[in-house]
Amino acid sequence: MLKHEVSKAELLRQKSILKSIYDANYGHDYRYHIESYGCQMNNHDSERIAGMLNEAGYRPADSKNDADIIIFNTCCVREHAELRVFGNVGALKALKDEKPFLIIGVCGCMMQQEQVAKKLSKRYPFVDLIFGTHELFRLPEMLESVLSGDHVFRISGSDADIAEDLPIMRNSTFSTNVNIMFGCNNFCTYCIVPYVRGRERSRSAENIVGEVKKLAAAGYLEITLLGQNVNSYNAPDSGIKFPGLLALVNDIDGVKRIRFMTSHPKDLSDELIYAMRDLDKVCHHIHLPVQSGSSRILREMNRRYTREDYLRLIDKLRANMPDIDITTDIIVGFPGETDADFEDTISLVDEVGYCAAYTFMYSQREGTIAAKIPDQIPPEIKKERLHALNAKVASKLSIASKNYINKIGEVLVEGCDQKPGGMMVYGKMNGFRTVFFPGDESLIGKMIHVKIIDTLNTSLVGQMVK
Ligand code: SAH
Ligand code: SF4
Ligand code: F3S
Repeated sequence: MLKHEVSKAELLRQKSILKSIYDANYGHDYRYHIESYGCQMNNHDSERIAGMLNEAGYRPADSKNDADIIIFNTCCVREHAELRVFGNVGALKALKDEKPFLIIGVCGCMMQQEQVAKKLSKRYPFVDLIFGTHELFRLPEMLESVLSGDHVFRISGSDADIAEDLPIMRNSTFSTNVNIMFGCNNFCTYCIVPYVRGRERSRSAENIVGEVKKLAAAGYLEITLLGQNVNSYNAPDSGIKFPGLLALVNDIDGVKRIRFMTSHPKDLSDELIYAMRDLDKVCHHIHLPVQSGSSRILREMNRRYTREDYLRLIDKLRANMPDIDITTDIIVGFPGETDADFEDTISLVDEVGYCAAYTFMYSQREGTIAAKIPDQIPPEIKKERLHALNAKVASKLSIASKNYINKIGEVLVEGCDQKPGGMMVYGKMNGFRTVFFPGDESLIGKMIHVKIIDTLNTSLVGQMVK
């Protein structure tokens, strides 16, 4: 057993509790409703919660109002999330008054902040279950306590939380996420993630490959490998690094596409770039958060690369994969950010030409280093900068979209929508571009060759090629 893994005996114990709850629930039609507020990791944790509840005999509810268990899986990366979660949990009071046996649980990163969790528990005594990010695998035991009438409040600092083989109810039948590592060691000065997710810990390559093989056998075509910083993946037993892991996953029959996120620029090695170029199933897309275009601000953020380092990486990526789609995260209004620093961000976006950028106003997170910097930027300036930045990203994107006209690519169809011109399906090409084209539900989950004929604001329009 590896250092961060939960023991098999403990997992079996939790599983047997699920079985006994299942037996007790037999013949009833109990339902659950889960809301995720965070990133893909958070979403994936919700799939695990759903998996465990499913094994305990609960089924998904159509809405909150029909549920016997409601779980909010929270995020705390930005401050406004807190207001929203507190508001939404507060709003459940009326439902709980109506249905006294309703179970309400709140978990996730925000609950890993003990002060916030305590505040929530004090303000809303009707919440039955509060647990932190390291306690997920103990849900069966916690649920058992709640069912016997106890309130549960469980937050630990332990990183020994990698639970292999937990049941997972995946949201899709053809594209899914696989965690390869948990936590983060980078301590970017604005970011709370390392405090709520703990230190970096990688799963063994053998377990990851085993999981992907099972998924491929079940018909999954697209696998997204997840971690806060996948480039520093380091298998605890075999020493396999991320490019090596990609090669192993690339060898699995049935897998058609491999994606991964997130990559930290400081750890993006040449080996990884070559692996992306040479492994046929690895998509030509990289999410490479830059955060700022100013080397001075990057230093203050503790990102450990400069603007020039970042631009060199972009050049190297494009030299090896001319068709690569690059996406990013950017923060505006980091403490002390001057107009000149912000202009550096704008000019970097101009130079790179992102396929998508997730842009955020800096949000002060208690306990982080940047929260203590006196020179906080007023909200009006942050807003102005955000608007200017979004306009720049959009204008670069629409220029780049024109290059796609008449190109043919394969699309993995994700869904369909009724549009004014008729039924359209949509999905991503090998990179990050979303294409809409005429088609119906029967195409969902299929890989279809499409020719691009037009562009929309952020997406492309195509038609099937025979
Ligand atoms: N591990 C990933 C993503 C972490 S959180 C990475 O390193 O890129 C996702 C994004 O939220 C970050 O990339 C950052 O742009 C943003 N973010 C994190 N903390 C923030 C804060 N305090 N204020 C505003 N945005 C923040
Ligand atoms: Fe946060 Fe930085 Fe870690 Fe990403 S790399 S999770 S931004 S501390
Ligand atoms: Fe993700 Fe938010 Fe936690 S971004 S890791 S859910 S703080």
